Amino acid sequence: MISASAPAKVILFGEHAVVYGQPAIAVPVSSLRATATVEYRSPDGLGVRSVAADLAQTFPTQVDVSTVDSALSLTTQLVCQKIGVPTPDITITIDSDIPIASGLGSGAAVSTAIARALTTALGHPLDSEAISQLVYEVEKLHHGTPSGIDNTVIAYEQPVYFVRGHPIESITIAKPFHLLIADSGRGALTRVTVGEVRKLYEVNPDQIQPILDAIGRIATQAREFITTGMTDMLGSLMLDNHGLLQQLTVSSPELDTLVKAAMEAGALGAKLSGGGRGGNMIVLVTEQSSDEVADAIRRAGAVRVISTMVGGREC
Ligand code: PMV
Repeated sequence: MISASAPAKVILFGEHAVVYGQPAIAVPVSSLRATATVEYRSPDGLGVRSVAADLAQTFPTQVDVSTVDSALSLTTQLVCQKIGVPTPDITITIDSDIPIASGLGSGAAVSTAIARALTTALGHPLDSEAISQLVYEVEKLHHGTPSGIDNTVIAYEQPVYFVRGHPIESITIAKPFHLLIADSGRGALTRVTVGEVRKLYEVNPDQIQPILDAIGRIATQAREFITTGMTDMLGSLMLDNHGLLQQLTVSSPELDTLVKAAMEAGALGAKLSGGGRGGNMIVLVTEQSSDEVADAIRRAGAVRVISTMVGGREC
């Protein structure tokens, strides 16, 4: 029986602009994890059987990868293809405490955990880059044209300064900082918001390009603050980034309400995180303001608030 796990993630700066080649910063949330356990125990000849709390699937040994529409089966098929073995008769049990469809990278974390557990069980463990590339292929099922930031930060489980198509650049967090991650309660598909931004860009590139450039400058400035320990300065960058995301039309009344409530309760900064129009927002707080801000955003409609230290002990 072999188990492997992978963390959730949040994007701190640069979502959407990262699709157009601008830098973005994302960090793993190691306290929330997806775990996959592989057992050589499966009804004979049935191939891979996967079991999860809200999901039970069996898929056969021979699957045409080009027609596979399930992320789980695609992950296992790509693993077997990559290491050149037929699909074994196994059971994969998935156990995850990462909320799904909320911008925390649940899909990429489950795929990463499966790929790690399965390659290890088959005697061919892959390095983080190979796992990341494999999960990127699976991410296309969810996102259409993903930038690659989710699979990278999750497979490496390191804070990253990510530029599409460039080698991974990990960043050192000189001084840990406290984030709240709050769910707006409204689901939204990243594929849809990415498509909407693409339409805006195609109709009016002269207006949209400066917004994307400004987001890229914010991510670069944020890296400077993070790596030199000037974390309090990140707050105003978060607000600027949120304003630019509003201009890209990917915020929502719910997300704006949460940002406002957080700032009124004493947060240092706040912004939406991920695809937008719903999903999560993040708030920079101090140890002293954390509880009050968390209460305020719950009262303003957040359906779940997760508290985490970035670069230090996680809570
Ligand atoms: O919704 P999430 O957390 O998976 O983030 C998507 C980030 C985007 O920049 C909007 C898209 C991408 O592929 O980078």
